[in-house]
Amino acid sequence: MALVITRATRAELDLCLHVRRRVFIEEQGVSESLDLDGFDGAAIHVLARRDGEPVGTLRLRRCGSRAKIERVAVLAPLRAEGIGRAMMDFVHRLARHEGLEALELHAQVPVIGFYIRLGYRAYGPVFLDANIEHRAMRLEL
Ligand SMILES: CC(C)(COP(=O)(O)OP(=O)(O)OC[C@H]1O[C@@H](n2cnc3c(N)ncnc32)[C@H](O)[C@@H]1OP(=O)(O)O)[C@@H](O)C(=O)NCCC(=O)NCCS
Repeated sequence: MALVITRATRAELDLCLHVRRRVFIEEQGVSESLDLDGFDGAAIHVLARRDGEPVGTLRLRRCGSRAKIERVAVLAPLRAEGIGRAMMDFVHRLARHEGLEALELHAQVPVIGFYIRLGYRAYGPVFLDANIEHRAMRLEL
């Protein structure tokens, strides 16, 4: 099945938000007001489609020479098939092209291993965000 990863256009933002709704709001119980935090307009969004259907997303928010990766999500039935890694590889290429020096994220504790495989390093204490345990992670580009 064909997987296509792109930088989402403005018109495609709703497709990204649809994936986030399924994963964060419906599956994980995060409130809509926490997911829709007002930063989407200023972010770069990545969209993964399989056979044309939206299946994954993430967003990148630039802050000087570094950026934050947020809202990384793949629909539950399609996990462990390489979609998450493909989106992260895409955003790493984009970030290098933009001249960024480092990427930072707050990883949910159960998926820290996903980011470690991609080269990220965890630091600092575990903390609660949206009532979910997280840890800060960083990748030098
Ligand atoms: C985290 C998430 C995006 C990963 O997406 P995915 O498409 O399932 O991941 P992939 O199939 O591309 O996995 C890539 C690699 O990471 C590993 N991996 C995936 N999830 C993992 C986990 N929870 N713990 C450890 N390793 C993991 C895979 O085994 C694979 O390893 P390999 O390359 O050695 O075979 C997905 O599980 C998800 O959407 N989770 C719910 C939302 C969420 O928690 N998002 C993160 C917020 S910080």
